[in-house]
Amino acid sequence: MIIAANLKTNLTREKTAKYISEVESYVRKNSITSEVFVFPATSSLTSHTGAVVVGAQNAYPTINGAFTGEIGYEQLEEFGIKTILIGHSERRHLLGETQEELIKKFNFYKELGFKIIYCVGEPLEIREAGFETMMEYISKQYEGIDVTYENLIIAYEPVWAIGTGLTPTSEDIVAIHAELKKKSLAPILYGGSVKVTNAKEVLALDGVDGILVGGAALYAEHFCTMCEYAQELNK
Ligand code: PGA
Repeated sequence: MIIAANLKTNLTREKTAKYISEVESYVRKNSITSEVFVFPATSSLTSHTGAVVVGAQNAYPTINGAFTGEIGYEQLEEFGIKTILIGHSERRHLLGETQEELIKKFNFYKELGFKIIYCVGEPLEIREAGFETMMEYISKQYEGIDVTYENLIIAYEPVWAIGTGLTPTSEDIVAIHAELKKKSLAPILYGGSVKVTNAKEVLALDGVDGILVGGAALYAEHFCTMCEYAQELNK
């Protein structure tokens, strides 16, 4: 399974270092066999060798250059980062990244062999328009993306479930993941209000290969508990 923490714009560099070392020692002590990823804020990126893989929440599709406020491959390479989140709903909807821009980013980091967690998911009004409309919307987010890329992981994250405490029903998650499994062989994570209290249930669902956790992953202890659940399920 794959257990990923998206720390978003939280924690300082010092707190992130402590977080990663706590998760690392938990994963080692408990012989966790899942792949465990942590995505810190850009200023907290660090070289980490061990069981935990540190990835970037975002980067510009460039080696380096004049892109004020952005980082590129050169800055990731310094820390040995080879994993990136692309298409997170906050980047699509709050920062206005278009599908065209995401495709460029995807292709750039694919060429460099990065492991890519590519996020898809629908806003509430699309969900309310029915299953077919919802799947059409999500299909558009697959356009231009190489679904056969061997280092691809998909994260299905309904926009209305992110940070809201709302989640789809288990039946919905199973049905949507089953549809998405038809599009590619990549593992599919569920994300959106996963917490210690529902993580085990979500992880156990058919077609769920892991979780991408935001708010509830901010405490290393909670995130470690979720890693333990994955281990117990031994999927
Ligand atoms: P959340 O965020 O767990 O806080 O809902 C998930 C995500 O945005 O990846």
